[in-house]
Amino acid sequence: MGLDEAALKPHERLAGLLAEELSAVNDLIRERMASEHAPRIPEVTAHLIEAGGKRLRPMLTLAAARICGYDGPYHIHLAATVEFIHTATLLHDDVVDESAQRRGRPTANLLWDNKSSVLVGDYLFARSFQLMTDTGSVRVLRILSDASATIAEGEVLQLTAAQNLATTEEIYLKVVRGKTAALFSAATEVGGVIAGAPEDHVKALHAYGDALGIAFQITDDLLDYWGSDATGKNVGDDFRERKLTLPLIKAVAKADEEERAFWKRVIEKGDQRDGDLDHALHLLNQHGALKATRKEALAWAEKAKAALAPLPESEVRQMLSDIADYVVARIT
Ligand code: IPE
Ligand code: IPE
Ligand code: MG
Ligand code: MG
Repeated sequence: MGLDEAALKPHERLAGLLAEELSAVNDLIRERMASEHAPRIPEVTAHLIEAGGKRLRPMLTLAAARICGYDGPYHIHLAATVEFIHTATLLHDDVVDESAQRRGRPTANLLWDNKSSVLVGDYLFARSFQLMTDTGSVRVLRILSDASATIAEGEVLQLTAAQNLATTEEIYLKVVRGKTAALFSAATEVGGVIAGAPEDHVKALHAYGDALGIAFQITDDLLDYWGSDATGKNVGDDFRERKLTLPLIKAVAKADEEERAFWKRVIEKGDQRDGDLDHALHLLNQHGALKATRKEALAWAEKAKAALAPLPESEVRQMLSDIADYVVARIT
């Protein structure tokens, strides 16, 4: 490995290895996001899709298919499907979360409006289903439609858990598994399925995606407090949204009476004033909540790596393993 290559992040190295296929995925995405009848659609989708994004989920599908010895063509459709589902959920998510920044750009809901984001998100969802039917595999249809339902469930569960200080780590895990890990595990699983891989390999790919997705979302929630430019999103969004993410759940569990009163005011009542985010951060640090959260993310990354064991050893499998380390390491 040359010096330049060594400096690349693992998902960038994987992107290099899968460059040709990824470019086919991007072409297909561009082709299918078009609409002859409603110019607002390509405006909004181009804004979001041309901003890039890591393309992590489609890469997972391509990598899984490659590990299982598939040489096409339907992994391209599946990878594009997965990115469409992801993009649709992001459009909806930024409306629900009232977010102002995504992929380092103003969100579509800010540039256009909520109506456009919701409707174009619906359009992308529908397009994703058209794309997956191209593969002719009922099994991948089931996996991806199940995942879509699970994502929506996770988002709704999160909605009802928000502002509720009684939210447990168990509920949090359910939310995260639903809203994030379901798409990761579906992305890896369909790569194996389309390749006709043996069941134990398909299972391993699913388990890897599940654990990776959980590690990824726990880290994302940590970054919302820890602060990092790496995400292209605002710091403190979750606090403002009064979301019970893992760092907060851990700090609330250790709160004394005075701290509990603070959490009740800012999270339950939503009475947030200047300096409250700083005070929350101070409490998170004081109770070791950020460190404990990071530890859990690391444990899920280890689980993801261990899940790869049944798969044949290869350069791509090693990259998936490195990606598990990286999703947690992006914290530093
Ligand atoms: C953002 O996912 C949504 C979460 C599950 C936290 P990514 O961080 O993979 O988003 P992009 O696609 O790279 O922008
Ligand atoms: C991401 O969830 C959206 C989905 C997984 C559906 P979040 O709301 O936690 O992620 P960001 O921080 O906006 O990317
Ligand atoms: Mg959000
Ligand atoms: Mg959200």
